[in-house]
Amino acid sequence: MRKFFGPEPYQQSEDDKRVQQGLRAQGKLPRHIAIIMDGNGRWAEERGLPRAAGHQAGIASLRDVTRSSRELGIEFLTVYAFSTENWKRPKREVSMLFRLLVKMLREELNEMLEHGVRLKTIGQTTLLPKLVQEELTGAIERTARNKGLTLTLALSYSGRWDLVRAMQAIALEVRRGKISPEDVSEETVRAALATAQMPDPDLLIRTSGELRISNFLLWELAYSELHVTKTLWPDFRREHLYDSIREYQTRERRFGLTGAQLRTAVASDVEVTPAHATYVESIVSSITGKRS
Ligand code: FPP
Repeated sequence: MRKFFGPEPYQQSEDDKRVQQGLRAQGKLPRHIAIIMDGNGRWAEERGLPRAAGHQAGIASLRDVTRSSRELGIEFLTVYAFSTENWKRPKREVSMLFRLLVKMLREELNEMLEHGVRLKTIGQTTLLPKLVQEELTGAIERTARNKGLTLTLALSYSGRWDLVRAMQAIALEVRRGKISPEDVSEETVRAALATAQMPDPDLLIRTSGELRISNFLLWELAYSELHVTKTLWPDFRREHLYDSIREYQTRERRFGLTGAQLRTAVASDVEVTPAHATYVESIVSSITGKRS
């Protein structure tokens, strides 16, 4: 019963440490993992419970995934907690989600501080109830200097909303004469997005088997590896996360190049034309983890 009222004391097991060492030894870990946490409602319905019970159970999944990501040394974890479209849900469900969010923030803050987790949000958080905004601001400020995992909650977020915002900001810069239209590049757009301070996700996980991106991180997911699992979010635990990472490690990330081009560039630091230099460098560093 205790588990429904907050996290129990936690210590990573020795077995789990060994599994994590195995994962690290097996290959490169993703720097940034993004998750569409789906299936809370179905999980509850399957058990004849109200949908809120599914969201509540989903918090335990988020806790376990955050802990295990931090322990593994993942740098960024970004989760879709409340989409722009979720505002259309029944008022009762929306307010229950926000109540759960406030409870979660209060219960998890100490552990975040203890383990260097930095909390961030992306999305139109000014639309959230005042109390939720205050709790978020408090937790963000208190964790701002943490250097471990960055946990980003996407709240009242949609990829199109962020792109529109970015375009408006860039248009304003052009109108003010600060940049010309020809100066607008991928970097300009990237810098104007809510995710400007983080690398693009290497891996996107979606639970509950749906094959959609659902307006999440539209720009940032351009080259992400996708892992879809039928597991519903409240059943998702670190073992599922490890499976997704193992699958990621078996894939070859090509960024539009051929496999042969990529292997040559990585294996021998080959000469590349100036036009490709930056491009290939970014690929090599994303594979080796080293910045040149
Ligand atoms: C989707 O499941 C999930 C959500 C809309 C919310 C996810 C949030 C958490 C797990 C908790 C942490 C965040 C907050 C805001 C408390 P669904 O309800 O769409 O599931 P269904 O597709 O089976 O109906």
